[in-house]
Amino acid sequence: MDRMRRLRSSEAIRSMVRENAVRTEELIYPLFVEEGTNLKNPIASMPGIFQYSVDRLSEELERVMASGVRALLLFGIPAHKDEVGSGAYDDNGIVQQALRFIKKQYPELLLIADVCLCEYTSHGHCGLVADGKILNDETLPLLTKTAVSYAKAGADIIAPSDMMDKRVAAIRKGLDSAGFTEVPIMAYSAKFASAYYSPFRDAAHSAPGFGDRRTYQMDPANGREALREVEEDIQEGADLIISKPAMAYMDIIRETANHFNIPIVAYNVSGEYAMVKAAAQNGWIDEKKIVMENMVGFKRAGAKMIITYHALDVANWLRELN
Ligand code: PBG
Ligand code: ZN
Repeated sequence: MDRMRRLRSSEAIRSMVRENAVRTEELIYPLFVEEGTNLKNPIASMPGIFQYSVDRLSEELERVMASGVRALLLFGIPAHKDEVGSGAYDDNGIVQQALRFIKKQYPELLLIADVCLCEYTSHGHCGLVADGKILNDETLPLLTKTAVSYAKAGADIIAPSDMMDKRVAAIRKGLDSAGFTEVPIMAYSAKFASAYYSPFRDAAHSAPGFGDRRTYQMDPANGREALREVEEDIQEGADLIISKPAMAYMDIIRETANHFNIPIVAYNVSGEYAMVKAAAQNGWIDEKKIVMENMVGFKRAGAKMIITYHALDVANWLRELN
C-alpha cells in the first residue's frame, strides 16, 4: 500500500528527497542610495532597511559581504528631481557614484542597476509626461541613456523596470553601440500595477504625483498577458526575466517557467516584506520559518533567483542550518 509518510520519518530522509533548496548565490539584495552625506535613514514601513549616502555605504556592504550575498540591486534617491528625470542619466548621478564606489571597494559584488525614471521625475512617473499622459516612445532614449551611463559607471547587469513597450530592444541597441555587448539585461517583464509597492515608494520617494501606473504596468487580473510581455522581452534581447510581485503571483512564475527556457527572477517586493515584518514584530508568526517557506515557495514555483529585502537574513540562516 502507498504510504507517503515512509519518506518523512526522519530529517535525513526528508532532506534526501527534498525537491527544492534556496541558495545564497541566487539571492539579490536591494539597496537604496541617497545623495548627501552621513545618511542612514530608516524606512518606517520596512524595518531593517535604510537609505544610505555613499560615504556610509560601507556599513551595509560589510554586512552584505559577511552574509555571503554577492548580488545587489541598486536604487537611487537624487537630491533634485525634474520633469525629464535628468538625474537618472547624469554621469555623476547618485547611482553612478554608488556604482563606481562599490566596484572599486568591493569588486566581488555583482551590481545590478534598476533603470527607471520615477525616482528622478518631479511628477513621479516612470516616463515622460505630456497632457497627463505617459509617453512611451519619447521615453525610450532617456532609458537607453540611463542604461549606458550605468554600464559606464560599472553596472554588471541592467534591469529596466519602467514597463514602456520596446525598451528592452532600445536599451540592447544602446548598450551594444556603446561597446557593452556583454552586459546582460534583466527585464522586469511581468510587472503588475500593484499596491504591494507602497513601502518602496516611501523608500525611493517615487510615488506618482497624479494618477497611478495602470496605463503602463499590468492589470493584476491578467495571466496570459504576462506571457506575451515575457515573450516580447525575450525577442527584444532580455537575458533574464523578472516576475513581480511574487507571493500573490506564484502562478505567473510557474507559467513563465513552463513556457520559456530562460532564468526567472522572483521579486519579493516591499509590501510583502512589510507584512511579514509587521506580523513578526507582533509575535504573531515565526519570522524565520515564514520567510524560508516563502523563499522555497518561489523556488518551487520555478524561480531561479530571488530579489528580496530578507536576503541577508536568509543567507545568515542558511549558514546556521548547515
Ligand atoms: C521603479 C520600481 C518600483 C519597484 C522596483 N522598481 C516601484 C514602482 O514601480 O512603483 C518596486 C519594488 C518594491 O516594491 O520592492 N519603477
Ligand atoms: Zn518607475
